[in-house]
Amino acid sequence: MTDSGPRLVSSPAEMQAETAAMRLQARTIGFVPTMGALHDGHMSLVRRARTENDAVVVSIFVNPTQFGPGEDFDAYPRDRAADLEKCASEGVDLVFAPGGGDMYPEGHCTTVDVLRLTDNLCGLSRPGHFRGVATVVLKLLNIVQPHRAYFGEKDYQQFLVVKRMVRDLFIPVEIVPCELFRDRDGLAMSSRNNYLSAEERVDALVLKEALDHFRRRVEEGELSAVTLMGEMAELIESVPSTQIDYVAIVDADTLEDLSTIKGRVLAALAVMVGDTRLIDNTVVEV
Ligand code: PAJ
Repeated sequence: MTDSGPRLVSSPAEMQAETAAMRLQARTIGFVPTMGALHDGHMSLVRRARTENDAVVVSIFVNPTQFGPGEDFDAYPRDRAADLEKCASEGVDLVFAPGGGDMYPEGHCTTVDVLRLTDNLCGLSRPGHFRGVATVVLKLLNIVQPHRAYFGEKDYQQFLVVKRMVRDLFIPVEIVPCELFRDRDGLAMSSRNNYLSAEERVDALVLKEALDHFRRRVEEGELSAVTLMGEMAELIESVPSTQIDYVAIVDADTLEDLSTIKGRVLAALAVMVGDTRLIDNTVVEV
């Protein structure tokens, strides 16, 4: 941490006291929850929070409960020094970086389940994932008590799940969706891109190509979801290092499967490139 850098807090009680003091001074608080390994996708949320609030809080916590058995919890990239430097350069006021025991104290036994919205897409292929996400996000919102919290549409289902939880449980916070941020070549930025070899990095561009193909075909008038999913899958499968987890076309508000493109439609992909699971999506309005 530099002198002008953000204050680093690890205790939930201390964090609650810090933001309580801010609210007493009538300062608005913008909050960006992350798992660290910060990249420009995360920082686009931080920049937006910076312009819309008096104070910005970023949390860095690799949340164990949202990783399934055999997933990459242990391998997940962690670089505290680089993360703090990025936060400092974007004028973040406070970084909340708790330890596992701070967030899940001995004997904890409370979880949050958001139903239905988690029945499809990543909810199907990562059982328990969204229970872990909703539970940790509720904890974080109760600790930081921000006016606004920023979520990327890169994780579109996560954004919807959090928005619904906040609505259903009357949590006094505004959930702000932020546009998916891409690298110059079109690859959706992700901490997991760190796992890709140079060759896989190129192969991974097929996700964006498949989504571009989807948009183009819808513009041309193709409205059959089965046809469109088939074409996207074929494109992806033409790259040998890939293995499709799902290619889905769903209603962008309910995440229910669609047979015909109509209204606001989400095309969402989860694809293994080598050993790395990547997700990407796009929304069209017909
Ligand atoms: P993480 O993957 O670190 O992402 C933190 C936030 O950054 C999420 O809201 C995510 O959607 C957003 N984000 C990541 N890459 C992005 C990109 N390329 N464009 C736009 N936004 C992007 O998502 C999580 O952490 C965790 O599940 C968390 C919400 C912190 C709960 O543990």
